[in-house]
Formats: sequence, C-alpha cells, structure tokens
Amino acid sequence: MAAEAGAQTDRPRFQTPDGFRLLPGFLGPDEQRKLADDVIAAIAHAPLYRPSMPRTGASLSVEMTNLGPLGWISDRGGYRYEPAHPVTGRPWPPMPDALLALWAAVSDWPDPPQACLVNVYGADSRLGLHVDADEDARDAPVVSVSLGDRARFRIGGLRRTDPTRSLVLSSGDVVVLGGAARRCHHGVDRIYPASSALLPEAWRPGRINLTLRRVR
Ligand code: SIN
Ligand code: MN
Repeated sequence: MAAEAGAQTDRPRFQTPDGFRLLPGFLGPDEQRKLADDVIAAIAHAPLYRPSMPRTGASLSVEMTNLGPLGWISDRGGYRYEPAHPVTGRPWPPMPDALLALWAAVSDWPDPPQACLVNVYGADSRLGLHVDADEDARDAPVVSVSLGDRARFRIGGLRRTDPTRSLVLSSGDVVVLGGAARRCHHGVDRIYPASSALLPEAWRPGRINLTLRRVR
C-alpha cells in the first residue's frame, strides 16, 4: 500500500490485521461488576495457579485458571487443553451465561465457546508476544474481555518480527481476533496499576482477562 501523504516514514507503517476488532466499553459498569463477581466466585472452585513454560520450566508472571468444558494449560508436558484443573483434578466451572451471550453477540460463529482462559495480572505481570496456536479450530475467532486495571496490549503480524502497535485496553473492552488477526502475534506489555476501581479491594491492583475460544 502506498504511504499516505504526511505519514511518518521513520518506522514501518502498521496496518491493523484484517479481522482485528476493538469494541471499547462493550460491557457497561454493572455488567462488568456482575461478570467480575461471577468469575471471582468460580475461582473459589478452580483456584488460580501460576503455569510454567514447557521448555524452560520458568513460571509465567500471570496467574491462570479456566471456565467451560476445556481449559488451556502449560507445563513441562507442553501447551494443551484439558477438561480438568491440573491441581484439584476437578472439571472447570461452567462459563457464566453473560460470557456465552457476549460470544454469541460478537463472534459471528455458530457454536458456543469451548474454553475460557482466565488470566489474572498483578502490578508487574506481563504476557510476551505469542500466537494462540493450540486450537484445532483455527478459523473460529478468539474473543477477549478485559476487567479491572487498564493494560497496554500489543498486536503485530503473522511473523514475530513484523511491526507491532500498542493500544490501551480498559475494563469492559472486548477484542475480537478473527480472520487474519486470528494468527497474529499479540501480548500484554504491562498493566496500569490502580487505574480501575472495578475489582474488589483484595484483587487490586489487578486485571482479569477472559479469553474465549473454540478448541476442536
Ligand atoms: C491472551 O492473549 O491470552 C490474553 C490477552 C490479554 O490479556 O488481553
Ligand atoms: Mn493470546
């Protein structure tokens, strides 16, 4: 594509990948609060744990759990989906109805999500640039919901070395990675501690991200 007149030329122009959608403030304050309450209640049955990386065994700085029939896990055995919590051995709690409704409203996909990864970020948590690649269902979009403190989200291209762009995600924002964006690199550089009063005191500073996916 030709550079636009007046466009800065000192770094490669970033084109947001097709199929990337940011829906700012998709959930209103009351919906956010109810969803946060439901997720926190579910975490009491499926406690957060800190996954480790397959090769190095190093711990992620994000704590995780899952909701729904399948959950994404990472340990020395690799990245994969499992029907039960790795620590308790119990099935993951069901997804709240509000999440199923949200998926139906934004995914443009006929079937419901099979997995909801719950990522909990503390003041110093981050998530390196990665592609969601552990699902056989690579055509279905990934839908993510942000609750609590704002975060700097980074989206890039198909290749790790492609140019990236960052944007701030606030509580109630929804991101859809569909089409070409489904295979694009993305990550979270940092959160902005104390930028939201949504989550209960004990969860602050903090951010909860819910990632809905089809797996099979
Ligand atoms: C993820 O890519 O798994 C999470 C993204 C986010 O926290 O916004
Ligand atoms: Mn991801």
